[in-house]
Amino acid sequence: MTATSIVIFGASGDLTHRKLIPALYHQFKSKRLPDDLNIIGVSRTKYEHHEFRDSMKEAVKEFNGNFDEDTWEQFAPHLYYLPSDASKLEVYEVLEKDLKEIEGGGDANRLYYLSVAPFLYEPIITNLGESGLNQENGGWRRIIIEKPFGTDLASAQKLNEVVHQNFQENQVYRIDHYLGKETAQNILFFRFANTIFEPIWNRNYIDNVQITVAETVDVGTRGDYYDSAGVLRDMFQNHILQLLMLVAMEPPTSFDATALRNEKVKVLNSIRPVKYSEVLFAQYNDYRKTKGVDPDSRTPTYAAVKLQIDNWRWKGVPFYLRSGKALKHKVTKILVEFKSPPHMMFQQAVGSKKGSHNVLSLCIQPDEGIHLQFEAKIPGQQAFRTAQLQFHYADSFEEPTGDAYERLLLDALEGDASLFTRSDEIEAAWSLFDPIIGYSERKTDSPRITYQPGSMGPLDAEEFMEQDGRQWQPSGCIHEDH
Ligand code: BG6
Repeated sequence: MTATSIVIFGASGDLTHRKLIPALYHQFKSKRLPDDLNIIGVSRTKYEHHEFRDSMKEAVKEFNGNFDEDTWEQFAPHLYYLPSDASKLEVYEVLEKDLKEIEGGGDANRLYYLSVAPFLYEPIITNLGESGLNQENGGWRRIIIEKPFGTDLASAQKLNEVVHQNFQENQVYRIDHYLGKETAQNILFFRFANTIFEPIWNRNYIDNVQITVAETVDVGTRGDYYDSAGVLRDMFQNHILQLLMLVAMEPPTSFDATALRNEKVKVLNSIRPVKYSEVLFAQYNDYRKTKGVDPDSRTPTYAAVKLQIDNWRWKGVPFYLRSGKALKHKVTKILVEFKSPPHMMFQQAVGSKKGSHNVLSLCIQPDEGIHLQFEAKIPGQQAFRTAQLQFHYADSFEEPTGDAYERLLLDALEGDASLFTRSDEIEAAWSLFDPIIGYSERKTDSPRITYQPGSMGPLDAEEFMEQDGRQWQPSGCIHEDH
């Protein structure tokens, strides 16, 4: 039997604790991992194997919620640890020796996971190449690279160059955990496994699309990172664009990585460059007091962006994107607002919002589901009011929606790259966002727009929509929503 080894660089870090090991533990429990599996943690903390296992046990207990001692006893012997500084080439000789010993010296597949600070990506990738650990002799070699993949187009291109000097593109898995969310994948199933919506999924019937990723958490202890990233690099260039691509792409011929990613890249390449008047940036009050944040920082913690896709399907249909930290609700949702009927012969209920707009809400999280808003006759009156059809995952499926990392790790082990980002895709996303980030960094005398933590965001975001004669649609994905 061919052994499989997962080498996690950055094994003492937060992501390994919160996501990677709990995800692997859960997949192990569900018997979805290869039989002869080894997980080797590499980082600078001086753990012995048993100390690493103990620390991971605590992590699984805290972050999986599905812990049981028996399964842990079976899982723990698969974990190993190598304390070392992965930026040093000599470490890789030791790593290879350890791997061979653990794998029993036969053929082995190896998955390298870069869960380290981004400045370590290049040295680790280069070292894997120089030490020959990238060579596919006696098994496949794959590499998962965490976000952020670059901080702008130039740095992403440079990183892609280093990656391609050492790995073939089909060995590379650039992660965007939003693609691992069941509800994000369901966008494609919803569109392409049904006949009823796809015929109207275009400029003839859709007025606009609104994508909201609202978070209640603030920047917390991540001030250092966040102040140089801001909401545009942290959420828009990756997660939100991925959602947009799934909504806007043409049907691929199959659910295969190349077909899917070809269509996604076409969408990115059809987006019109964004003008300064099509963006809005804001910062929550007291953000500047966060540890690691410049006291004069103008880094946006909230942004709204209007995008136009210049292709046959979407000409004239604006896509409004917004995301922010320290907001009232945590919700990720995509609202598709349809056009009004061409002629309205009925009366609207007194006091209800003007106009009749069917709205389809794809509720990505936390209450996963789909809602459809439509007009219905009020009993006893010749007037209508808005009603909703609702589908909730939790009511319709016994299967849990699971964690994105579980799915993505499994896909990488199985060699399915469809839910990972290709090099041209990541570069196209940066090309689009570099100028927008430039707008947010522009030196300007205009006052900083702020919003109250725990609020729905800046009031200016309402005006942002009103200038187009539209409004953010209440979605029904959560109560009291707006
Ligand atoms: C990460 C960002 O990529 O995604 C975080 O760095 C953000 O700032 C997180 O909080 C949001 O992920 P999720 O799955 O909680 O929506």
